[in-house]
Amino acid sequence: MENVFIMDHPLIQHKISIIRNKNTGTNEFRKLIEEIAILMGYEALRDLPLEDVTVETPIETCQSPMISGKKLAVVPVLRAGLGMVNGITTLVPSAKIGHIGLYRDPVTHEPHEYYCKLPDPIEQRQIVLVDPMLATGGSAVAAVDFIKQHGGKNIKCMFIIAAPEGMERLHKAHPDVQIYIGHLDRELNENAYICPGLGDAGDRIFGTK
Ligand code: URA
Repeated sequence: MENVFIMDHPLIQHKISIIRNKNTGTNEFRKLIEEIAILMGYEALRDLPLEDVTVETPIETCQSPMISGKKLAVVPVLRAGLGMVNGITTLVPSAKIGHIGLYRDPVTHEPHEYYCKLPDPIEQRQIVLVDPMLATGGSAVAAVDFIKQHGGKNIKCMFIIAAPEGMERLHKAHPDVQIYIGHLDRELNENAYICPGLGDAGDRIFGTK
């Protein structure tokens, strides 16, 4: 599937297995989510454009490549996406951070925006939307819709675990968006939890129930 990238790095797979374990506590879970975001970010950002700049080394002056062009905006989907932000800003400390809050209408089950604050101007930025779980895809599609409505153009999405249903729905709705997935799981259950998954990512990151 064009624009869909499923990670196969052993370190990512190893760390995902630890966070799946129901006995992994909040502290370790949070650290691992951040580490996985770093490893996935390393992959997802490998096409950032470079430009040569002049650098004076202690020996001589040379031309050396640095990241150019688009500045980065990390956009977590509240609340679980917050757990991945520090991973991306570890790689790109100058990144700006936007936030998207969505709630699901209890009757229609459609996602609605309750909070959206994005760095301005968003059009010129490389946007990295982060959410640990891609389940039905409803929230991810809505989040990308909102970013595009605000003028966002260059969008990558990162999910640590995805269900096939969510991956297909997001790709169909937004084929121009690059989707990075740490592990593609089997299916959704009747409560829209990913199987085998890791449970509720927000509760596990923040230690709530
Ligand atoms: N969100 C989660 O946190 N976990 C799932 O399994 C599905 C959606």
